[in-house]
Formats: sequence, C-alpha cells, structure tokens
Amino acid sequence: MRVRNALASIAMLAASACGDPLPPLDASAPRDASVSAPVCATNRNDEIRLKLAPQCEACHGARAGRPFFENLAAFEDLLVYNPAFVVRGDPDRSPLVAMLEGRATGAYRQMPLGGDPFATRASRGETRVSMDELREWIRALPPPDPSRQGPDPAAITTRRLSADEAINALAIALGQPANSGVPPLLALDGPQPLSPDSPAGVDYQDTLRRDTYLMLGGPSYLAQRRAEPTWSPGSLLTFSQLAQGMCSRAAAMNNAQLFKFAMASERLPMAEANVRRNIAYLYERFLHEPAPMTAVDALFTRVYQPAESTNTRVAWTQVCVALARDPLFITF
Ligand code: HEC
Repeated sequence: MRVRNALASIAMLAASACGDPLPPLDASAPRDASVSAPVCATNRNDEIRLKLAPQCEACHGARAGRPFFENLAAFEDLLVYNPAFVVRGDPDRSPLVAMLEGRATGAYRQMPLGGDPFATRASRGETRVSMDELREWIRALPPPDPSRQGPDPAAITTRRLSADEAINALAIALGQPANSGVPPLLALDGPQPLSPDSPAGVDYQDTLRRDTYLMLGGPSYLAQRRAEPTWSPGSLLTFSQLAQGMCSRAAAMNNAQLFKFAMASERLPMAEANVRRNIAYLYERFLHEPAPMTAVDALFTRVYQPAESTNTRVAWTQVCVALARDPLFITF
C-alpha cells in the first residue's frame, strides 16, 4: 500500500512538472508506458506538435518519407516554418489549415489521408487540439529561432543498426548467406535470434532466441514493443554476446572468408606478418574502409597477441568481436 502511494505521488510529480499530462485519446485502449508517460513540451510549437501527433505521427514519424513529427526540429523545419504549408500570422492562407479542413487544393486535399479530415474529427472532440486553437497558434506564431538557422552541427547523422540489420551484418561479414527477403530476415537455423513476429510459427515457442532478439532491441508487435532507437548498455551487451558466439563458430570452422591471409593454425611469432595482414583484411571486410596502420597495430598488440597465448581460435574470435563492436559496424 505504501509503495502504491509512493508511486502515485511520483506520477503526480512527473505530471505537474510538465503541465497537464496528455490523457490517452481512448481511455479503453491498452496502455503503453511509452505513450501514456507525461511528455514535456519545450515551447508552444512543441505543444502543438504533441497535440497533433496522435492523428499524424503514424505516417509522419521517424523514418517516414516526410517525418514532420519525428521531433521538434523536424516539425519546425519541415512544416511550421515551411511557407508551402504555414503562412505565419495568416491561418486562412496556410495550406496546412486547408488540409486539416479537407479543402486543400494541392496534391493532397486533406490530412489525415484517409477517413474524415482533421477538422471533422476535432469538431467531434476526438482530437487534442481544436481548429480554433490551431488558427490562433498560426496567428501568433513567432519567427523561427535565429540560433536554429542552418544545419545543426550537433544533429545525429547516424543511427544504430536495427536488430535484424545487426544480425544480417554479422552474418554477411562472416561469410554466411544473409537471409535477404521479407522481414524478419532471420535465419531459421543456427544460433541467430528470431523476431517474435517471425512468420515461422514454431519459432514463437523458441523463447531463448526470441528473448535474445528483444534484448537486441528488436520490436515485437505482439508484445507491443517498439524497436529500440539507440544502442543501450543492454542491447550492446546482447550484441557482443551474439557476436562472440557467431565469431567463435566461424573461427572454429576455419571459415575461408575469415582466413584469407593467415591460417587459423599458424602460431606467433612466426605468423605475425600474416596475422597482421589478415587483421587488415578483416578490418576492411567489417568496416568497409581501408585499415589504418594504427588500428591494425592496436588490434594485433592489444587484442590478438594476448589472446593467442590461449589459442588462435580465441584470438581470432576476439578480433572479430572487436570489429563487430566498432561504432562503424553497428551504426548506419
Ligand atoms: C494514413 C497516413 C497519413 C496520416 C495519418 C497523415 N498523413 Fe500527411 N501525408 C501522408 C502521405 C502518404 C503524404 C504524401 C507523402 C509524400 O508526398 O511523400 C502526406 C503528406 C502530407 C503533407 C505534405 C502535403 C503536400 O502537399 O506536399 C503534409 C503537410 C501532411 N501530410 C500533414 C499531415 C498532418 C498535419 C497530419 C495529421 C493531422 C497527417 N499529415 C496525417 C499520409 C498521412
């Protein structure tokens, strides 16, 4: 009981810190923590973005062709301060308003694309923002923040590989055929994890592989889990373990794709030149750029050499894992 009270007051604190928490539009809908958590708007534009989002973000979220709702910067740069859609101070001449009211004359008459236009839904009380409030917002719209002109040097220009991509990238680097084709792109045999949404029915039973997939940051429609957008300590650890397993197997099988310039049985010190050459080859194979001398040197002296005293398989496995964990490998 005391725990529940404490939780309730934490929830209230969080809510009051962000102004009104946004209630779910449909109170009977299943609650997803990531949706019902209070979201803090950083300014008026952000507030409008969050209020419009339930009707728009399914088609205009991250990675959409037109990601207006991916974040505040996208909302402002692509939509709000794009005169093709919003004429500052003049809602009547703003094509966005016309689109929301289902009377636009451009390529698209209305938004959302299907069903009733936004204004009709708003008049039925199904939206978080009314047309009056939207018009007022455009009337009072401040000019864009001058400090945000031009490209943002801090903007993230890479993204993590998705769980499926990470598994495929490893398979390709290790010379195994990637299971190209329709999602979930995962091998049905071997140690690879499986998407719980895999069409192969039996694999729903394979909890170990399924859980590995989820821990790698993969999505699950059944479990209502979104794909993890960034690498977290947990997903990176799972990826390292996966790489460990796949690399070790490839090294044990003396995979010809892995051992181009050195044989797995060659021992130091005689083999040093071949080992270095093979490390450079693997570097390029995994990271798609020529290996800098310093990188080859570091992989040889800090990764290969210490592990070689155990055996060469462990040493090559460690080199392989180090390359797979490289930021160049796990991002896109
Ligand atoms: C069911 C999917 C869907 C929903 C929901 C949706 N849109 Fe769209 N929207 C599209 C598609 C598809 C396009 C055309 C994409 C393209 O041209 O690349 C589009 C285009 C647009 C455009 C550009 C139109 C043009 O003339 O170039 C704007 C602005 C827009 N949507 C705003 C919104 C807003 C605001 C909402 C929420 C009220 C919304 N959309 C909801 C699918 C959707």
